[in-house]
Amino acid sequence: MILKYARLAAVAMAAFASIAGCPPTEETGNQPTTDRVGQPTADFNPSLDVSLKATSDQVPIIPGPATSVLTYKPELITGDASRIASLPGSYLGPVIRARRGDRLRVRLINELSEPTIIHWHGMRVPPEMDGHPRYNIGAGEEFVYEFEVRDRAGTYWFHPHAHGFTASQVYRGLAGLLLVSDEQEDAVGLPSGDYDIPLVIQDRMFDDENQFIYPPNSSMMMDGFLGDRILVNGRPDYALSVAKRAYRLRLLNGSNSRTYKLAWSDGTPLMVIATDGGLLGRPVQRDYVTLAPGERIELWADFSQYALGSEISLESLAFSGADVGMDMMSMMGSRDDGMMGGHMMKPVGSGAAQMMDSDGHGEMSDAPPNGAAMRVMHVRVEREEAISEVLPDKLSELIEYRLEDASNAGTPRRFSVSVAMSMMSGMQWGFDGLTFQQDDVADHEVVPFNTLEVWEFVNETAPMAMNHPLHVHGVQFQVIDRSVMPDFAAGWESVRDGYVDNGWKDTLLVMPGERVKLLIQFSDFPGEYLYHCHNLEHEDGGMMRNIRVDR
Ligand code: C2O
Ligand code: CU
Ligand code: CU
Repeated sequence: MILKYARLAAVAMAAFASIAGCPPTEETGNQPTTDRVGQPTADFNPSLDVSLKATSDQVPIIPGPATSVLTYKPELITGDASRIASLPGSYLGPVIRARRGDRLRVRLINELSEPTIIHWHGMRVPPEMDGHPRYNIGAGEEFVYEFEVRDRAGTYWFHPHAHGFTASQVYRGLAGLLLVSDEQEDAVGLPSGDYDIPLVIQDRMFDDENQFIYPPNSSMMMDGFLGDRILVNGRPDYALSVAKRAYRLRLLNGSNSRTYKLAWSDGTPLMVIATDGGLLGRPVQRDYVTLAPGERIELWADFSQYALGSEISLESLAFSGADVGMDMMSMMGSRDDGMMGGHMMKPVGSGAAQMMDSDGHGEMSDAPPNGAAMRVMHVRVEREEAISEVLPDKLSELIEYRLEDASNAGTPRRFSVSVAMSMMSGMQWGFDGLTFQQDDVADHEVVPFNTLEVWEFVNETAPMAMNHPLHVHGVQFQVIDRSVMPDFAAGWESVRDGYVDNGWKDTLLVMPGERVKLLIQFSDFPGEYLYHCHNLEHEDGGMMRNIRVDR
């Protein structure tokens, strides 16, 4: 364990050093202005120009002392002020509303004491605008994003992506929404304004002084953080007051590693209208929906069927098989803590991070496991309402990829989850035995531009196995097949009916023993993007690799 954190610290120091030593743009004076990454260009003409200051703040979350958080403080520079709003009452956000075709300029100002960069999750932006950690900016620096919104209407989000800092920065509050609309969506007539509600679901753990605990212990650094209470839009015991009408609920799982199995408490089925990449072709009804970290789902929730004064809740139901054979590893983890005596080293750069001492951590890590039943939020039906939209049976024209059109139809490009472990360094997740190296691209990670391919993600690492929400940058894909090894069928069956694979996805849950096939085509920009596990502790621990899209 000592080595593990020493290594983390070295990586973090190297990141600092490279930022301090060679500013990414200033010293390349012979390049034309347009090639300078992270600098504004004179002829860009943004339709919306905002700045986001990543900074710290103190906010009341639970009764008692305020909690230290990180937050993006937005400021409108040019454009329509209604396009940028706070998430009501929250340190999360802001919510940026964009139209397809908009030209967005976002100036990120880093007021943190550590590197950061923003990634636009789910959006098809040029590689230099995508928040690759090679573009990290240090404390006090600025990065200017400029890109055109080419994406379908949908619920996208943005969050930090500085390698080694992503998990703690997201955990402490850096996460916003980018809601894209377009003419196709307008024509559908979905609930809008007050009836279109973003809901960011995250689990957290507080100490006695109301401060976020992160990470509670070393095994959560390897397995993923799990909190003991659920916040929605940054607030505990979230209660949504609704009218008797239809709502569009945009759910984002912004948790570091917890997966939810969402269902209404009264057994009403969920009506799903959109996934990561926007509207489905038609609404899809599910008894429950699984939502893994990074994934979004949009629900059509019609509360007109309830009597005034009724209360229902959105629950996360119990499921099994999220991890297999991991108990033994966490026992080894705690023994390692013990061997160190005293306090563990603080990971460099994460000011709020705290490690419990060997005696304290037992209680501190007492969070319900991934798959435990938990309440997500309440809904109270409090107002009559005469008018409501009607659920359309057609939502969008969904182009469906076909396997026979894939250039490699019979031989999927395969990415297999791998794990390396040792008593000294603990457990490190990766793909095909490889972990993140800033500029490393293996042969099988070079992908042809503008070419439909079939990929297969394989999660067969037994005897030790975990669920992994896998995410690919710069693209939306379609899932065409899932299967599981017989020994892992029970866990898989406790979640599989909640997969919504009917639309565009950028993140997908892969359970232990599962294989997933998907059709994918990068047709926006050549260059380097990332694929990684959206369990943020896995990502920071190296479960991330580059993809090079080659023209
Ligand atoms: Cu939301 Cu690379 O991640
Ligand atoms: Cu992403
Ligand atoms: Cu993972």
